Amino acid sequence: MGSATVFRHRRPNVTQKQTLTVRDNRTGDEYELDITDGTIRASDVGKIGKTGEEPGLAVYDPGFTNTASTRSAVTYIDGDRGILEYRGYPIEQLAESSTFLEVAYLLIHGELPTKEQHDQWVHEITFHTFVHENLKSLMQGFRYDAHPMGMLLSSVGALSTFYPEARNIKDPQVRHEQIVRLIAKMPTLGAWSFRHAQGKPYVYPDNDLTYTENFLSMLFRMSESKYEPDPRLSKALEVLFILHADHEQNCSTNAVRSVGSSQVDPYSAVSAGIAALYGPLHGGANEAVLRMLKRIKTKDNVPAFIEGVKNGDERLMGFGHRVYKNYDPRAKIIKKATEDVFEVTGVNPLLEVAQELEKIALEDEYFVSRKLYPNVDFYSGLIYEALQFPPEMFTVLFAIPRTAGWLAQWLELVDDPEQKIARPKQIYTGERQLDFIPAAQRWS
Ligand SMILES: CC(C)(COP(=O)(O)OP(=O)(O)OC[C@H]1O[C@@H](n2cnc3c(N)ncnc32)[C@H](O)[C@@H]1OP(=O)(O)O)[C@@H](O)C(=O)NCCC(=O)NCCS
Repeated sequence: MGSATVFRHRRPNVTQKQTLTVRDNRTGDEYELDITDGTIRASDVGKIGKTGEEPGLAVYDPGFTNTASTRSAVTYIDGDRGILEYRGYPIEQLAESSTFLEVAYLLIHGELPTKEQHDQWVHEITFHTFVHENLKSLMQGFRYDAHPMGMLLSSVGALSTFYPEARNIKDPQVRHEQIVRLIAKMPTLGAWSFRHAQGKPYVYPDNDLTYTENFLSMLFRMSESKYEPDPRLSKALEVLFILHADHEQNCSTNAVRSVGSSQVDPYSAVSAGIAALYGPLHGGANEAVLRMLKRIKTKDNVPAFIEGVKNGDERLMGFGHRVYKNYDPRAKIIKKATEDVFEVTGVNPLLEVAQELEKIALEDEYFVSRKLYPNVDFYSGLIYEALQFPPEMFTVLFAIPRTAGWLAQWLELVDDPEQKIARPKQIYTGERQLDFIPAAQRWS
C-alpha cells in the first residue's frame, strides 16, 4: 500500500479551537475531533464513516512510526535539540554525578531517593543478586557455544517459574519484590552467560561490592580470594549503564508493554524485551561499528572509506539516528568514558580510526547537511572490546541496565487505567470464503 498525498487546503477562517475537522468525501459528512497533546484519538477516527453494517475508519501505521501508544512520564526525548531526560533530569547530569542504582530508583519511583530510601534500595538489590541453584543448572545445560543473549532471554523467562507469586501484578508489594529481583539478578545471569561460552566456572555475587563492581567480579574473577576491579572501569560501566537505562517507546520497551498488557508476570514481559533487543536492528549497531573499524584498519584508509559512503556504497555505522537529528547527547558522554577506559586497558588502535572518521564526517557537507552525527553506538563498541567482551556480549550489556527502564514502563502500564490488552487492527488482504476440498479429492 503506497502512501497517498495529503492535500492541504488553506482557509481563512482560523479559530483557536483544539480540534480537527474532517470531511468524509465518500459521504459528505463532516466530523470534529478533539486534539489533545498534539494527538487525535484513534477511537475518534473509528467513528468516521461508522454505520450499523460498516466499521469506521482506522489508521494504518506499520511500525507505529506516528502512533502514540501511551501517555508516559518516564523519559523525555527531543531529537531535534539533542535532549534526553529521565523523569525530567538531563542525562548529562545523571551520567556525571549519579550512580546506576540511583537512576534505576528514579526511573522506577519517579523521584530521587532520600538517603534512607537510597540505602534501603541498594541493600535490597544487593541482597537479591543470588539465583536459585536450579537456575544455574538450567544455564549449564546450554551448548558450549550458546549465544549469551539466548541464555539471558531464557533464564529471565525461567525466573517466573521460581517466583509464581509474581503473576499477582495487582499487588504493589509483590511488584516491588519482582522489580528488585530482576534488577539484582540481571548482572548475575548476564555474567554467567558470558562465563559459559568461555568454559569458565560461574562466579557467585560478592555483596560487598557495588552493582557494577560486582558485575565485573562475576565476569572476570578467577582464583583471587577478593576481586578488586579498577575504579575507573566500574565508573565507566556505571556511566554506560546510566546512558542505556531507558529510551522511551523503542522496540524492546514496546515489546515489554505489549506482552505486559496481557497481565503476564514481569519476568515474562522483560524476557520479551530481551528478545526484541536481540535483533540486529535494535541492539546490534555497536557490533557493526566495530566490524567497520576493523575493516578500515588504519587512519590512512579513512578518506577513501568516507568517499565510498558518500557515493552510497555503504553507511557510516554509528552515525545518524531516527530520533536525534542534532546530536545524540549520549555520544558525547560515552566519548569521555572511552578515554577513561583506555587509560586502564591501553589505547585500542581502532580509536584512532574512529576519531579520524568522526573528525572528517563532522566537517563534511554530506554528513552536515543530512544532520548525521555520532550516536551512542559509535564509541560503546570500542569500550566493550577494550574490556575484552566478544561482540555477542554487547547486547547483554545493553539489556542489564535497560531492565530498569523496562520495569519503570511496565509499572506505568500496570497502573494506567486507560491501557488495554494490546491488539492492533489489520487490513486483511487474503482470500475469502473458499470451498474446502478434502485432501483425498485434491490429490487424486
Ligand atoms: C540510524 C538510521 C537507521 C536512521 O535512519 P533514518 O532516520 O531513517 O534516516 P534515513 O535512512 O532516511 O537517512 C537520511 C539520509 O542520510 C543518509 N544517511 C543516514 N545515515 C547514514 C549513515 N550512517 N551513513 C551515511 N549516510 C547516511 C541516507 O542515505 C539519507 O541520504 P539521502 O537523503 O541522500 O537519501 C541511519 O542513520 C543509519 O543507518 N545509521 C547507521 C546505523 C546505526 O548507527 N544505527 C544505530 C542507531 S542508534
